[in-house]
Amino acid sequence: MYRQSIPLTGSFAAWRNAARSFVALGVEPQLISWSEEGAESGLFGEALTADPPAARIMVPGAFVDSAQRAICHRDPQRFALLYDMLWRLQRQPSLLEDESDALVSAIRQLTKAVSRDCHKMKAFVRFREDEANADAPRRRFVAWFEPDHNITELTAPFFASRFADMDWIIATPLVTAIFESGELSFAPTSERPPALPDPTIGLWQTYYASIFNPARLKVKAMKAEMPAKYWKNLPEAALIPELVAHAAERAAGMREAAPTEPSRRIPARGISEPHPPEEDAATLEQLAALTASCRRCPLYRNATQAVFGEGHSQAGLMLVGEQPGDREDLDGRPFVGPAGQLLDRALKEAGILRAETYLTNAVKHFKCEPRGKVRLHKSPDRHEVEHCRWWLRKEIELVRPRLIVALGGTAALSLTGVSAGVLRRRGVLERPEGLPPVFITVHPSSILRTPDRSASAQAYDDFVRDLVAAKSALAALG
Ligand code: URA
Repeated sequence: MYRQSIPLTGSFAAWRNAARSFVALGVEPQLISWSEEGAESGLFGEALTADPPAARIMVPGAFVDSAQRAICHRDPQRFALLYDMLWRLQRQPSLLEDESDALVSAIRQLTKAVSRDCHKMKAFVRFREDEANADAPRRRFVAWFEPDHNITELTAPFFASRFADMDWIIATPLVTAIFESGELSFAPTSERPPALPDPTIGLWQTYYASIFNPARLKVKAMKAEMPAKYWKNLPEAALIPELVAHAAERAAGMREAAPTEPSRRIPARGISEPHPPEEDAATLEQLAALTASCRRCPLYRNATQAVFGEGHSQAGLMLVGEQPGDREDLDGRPFVGPAGQLLDRALKEAGILRAETYLTNAVKHFKCEPRGKVRLHKSPDRHEVEHCRWWLRKEIELVRPRLIVALGGTAALSLTGVSAGVLRRRGVLERPEGLPPVFITVHPSSILRTPDRSASAQAYDDFVRDLVAAKSALAALG
């Protein structure tokens, strides 16, 4: 009888080395007692000490893949099951194809559970920044996560490629992953790291609350996707009971409000005379009235109303977005939905008063595709942007801002004629002919769409930094 223990870190390599040796020595599966290092390994049995003869072991690649996953499962039988499989594969190379084999099915169950656990870890790890490290060249983040299985080593490479430009630690009850200066290492966890304060919780919760759609709530499906056992480490989960409790009432409100309560009069649909570009407006009010009946392109058909700009009529700073969203389309005002709330917050942080700016969009009608009860946002195409450019140019002419901030690619296209490469052009002043200088940055909804919290916090910080730079550029323009 042999006994073999496997460490918590480097488990697969340790198991593979031991298993190869046992195969080389011809040790049958029932003669080995496998255990996790540190666990009770049985009183009897001889440890494998001397180097066995090298053995050439042929196994299908699929076995290696599934063994790397299955070994992470907490089932105490996993090492033995895998050795059993390895042993049988030597004699029956097509074993994996036998769906009815009990061993094949047992190992498949293990790999499925581990894959699901990895998926949850990728979705639910929440980093907090270690502010004590704020002056270091690389920012440092810490996360605590409680997976069902020992998956830290398997999942950490995903985080290493996602967050390659920062240092981080992901601690789990068994193993801690440490990513420092681009090097990934692992160590058994000695204690849970202290919880760091998180100043970005508010931003994350605002984002979560804004994407929560009460009309589409399915509590069972939500709990299957985000099982309650993870909630204690998810800041957004604190909002769930309240959001769920008021969902039916909010959805009923939405059903009633959406078709009947836009805050501006909806112009009657139907054919109306297009306004030739020559038709002039001497004031913003006149221009808004002309825009309201615009039929230059078909976008008016699915929209409730045209959404004209608003703000200071002689603002030094004009901000141009893409097009009204669902909320703006119903309210008739720009930037009042989730992207607008984020923009408001960023403007405040940058020291810019929204009331002193003029906010508008490159395209005045909401481009959407009706799908049942919802209207899916669609980006305007080049022709639609071109058709609408006349209105924007006229607004610029009347407001006469000293600086324009283009929020995202559509605004940049409308103002400069070039949409590509917003990320490369951000923060730079461009001087399109006949217009005030244009400062390009990202659209606030791109920050709302950033799926994970630390990347979204970073994107938000960068956006605020751009707005601060735009403010300085405006001051420098005099
Ligand atoms: N996105 C925009 O670009 N403009 C708005 O008014 C709202 C969302």
